[in-house]
Amino acid sequence: MIEIKQVSKVYRLKNREVIAVDDVSLTIEDGDIYGIIGYSGAGKSTLVRLINQLEIQDSGKIFVDNQNLGDLSSNELRKLRTKIGMIFQHFNLLWSRTVSENIELALEIAGNKDKQERHSKVQELVDLVGLTGRENAYPSELSGGQKQRVGIARALANDPKILLCDEATSALDPDTTKSILDLLLEINKKLNITIIMITHQMEVVQKICNHIAVMSEGKVIETGTVKEIFTAPKHSVTKSFVQEAKSHNDFNEEILKQIYSQGELLKVIFDEKISRQPVLTKVIRESDADINVIEANLNNTIDSSFGIMILQVIGDYQRVKTLFEKYLAKVEVM
Ligand SMILES: Nc1ncnc2c1ncn2[C@@H]1O[C@H](COP(=O)(O)OP(=O)(O)OP(=O)(O)O)[C@@H](O)[C@H]1O
Ligand SMILES: [Mg+2]
Repeated sequence: MIEIKQVSKVYRLKNREVIAVDDVSLTIEDGDIYGIIGYSGAGKSTLVRLINQLEIQDSGKIFVDNQNLGDLSSNELRKLRTKIGMIFQHFNLLWSRTVSENIELALEIAGNKDKQERHSKVQELVDLVGLTGRENAYPSELSGGQKQRVGIARALANDPKILLCDEATSALDPDTTKSILDLLLEINKKLNITIIMITHQMEVVQKICNHIAVMSEGKVIETGTVKEIFTAPKHSVTKSFVQEAKSHNDFNEEILKQIYSQGELLKVIFDEKISRQPVLTKVIRESDADINVIEANLNNTIDSSFGIMILQVIGDYQRVKTLFEKYLAKVEVM
């Protein structure tokens, strides 16, 4: 468990002070995938650097497994850092070293002198992150997603209990992002590693995190489960993140099903012809079911418009489906 208690960090510049982290308290349980979201400058990176004590707080305390990090000697701190892996937006790989050599370096730095043992550990990690066959490639020969896989393997080299991810998917396209998130999820389950995801992308948090903290101007302004944050965001910054995620039009079916567990969810897809007619009103009038609009999105392209609506139907959803189809909408039961 990681406990951050009333922690503040101030950067003192020549003519002014920046309060990068301002009286933050958070508890992260073992096995959590904990998302910390906020706009640029909110203090997210500073907060993660405080967790592995690359920065030292001006006030407050940080406990990892009930151990106050402030009480550790520099030697103990070095040991602790090997148990906290970190991955970065720009991967931070050594360009002159191969995939295997990049991963092995983390073992060498931690003082592992057994070459045989290092090599078998490297192979195990290469396989785990799905890079089998690319051991001897150089970073310049890899795609962004593959580079991040090397970063993940390197971060896992010393069997950490905690993995800190600072904007780990921000430089990747949506498909690659998804595959990296799937890998992190697998690692969390398989190796029981606590993951802290720093991001400014709500879709990332939405896909894999169980808890979220929202940061703004150094402060944690809201915390909650993904469900709580999505269904009832309180702070205006949180609301804008949730809105942004929804506008991505990439409805995460699993999460929606968890949130709206009653009845059935229908995805109604309608095109230009019917997007201009009051189809929903007609269907509601003609059916007995309770219908709740969860998401509705109309996209205008240069020569047409189309949309998707996600509805929660409590009652006879088959009849609702048939009615929509009567009005020429396509319907999928989610
Ligand atoms: N080493 C430093 N010296 C001085 N100021 C710093 C330093 N590092 C960060 N800051 C300042 O502290 C504040 C928080 O920065 P931080 O990098 O933690 O934000 P962030 O949420 O990670 O932002 P981003 O999303 O852009 O990475 C910012 O105002 C930043 O300019
Ligand atoms: Mg940052």
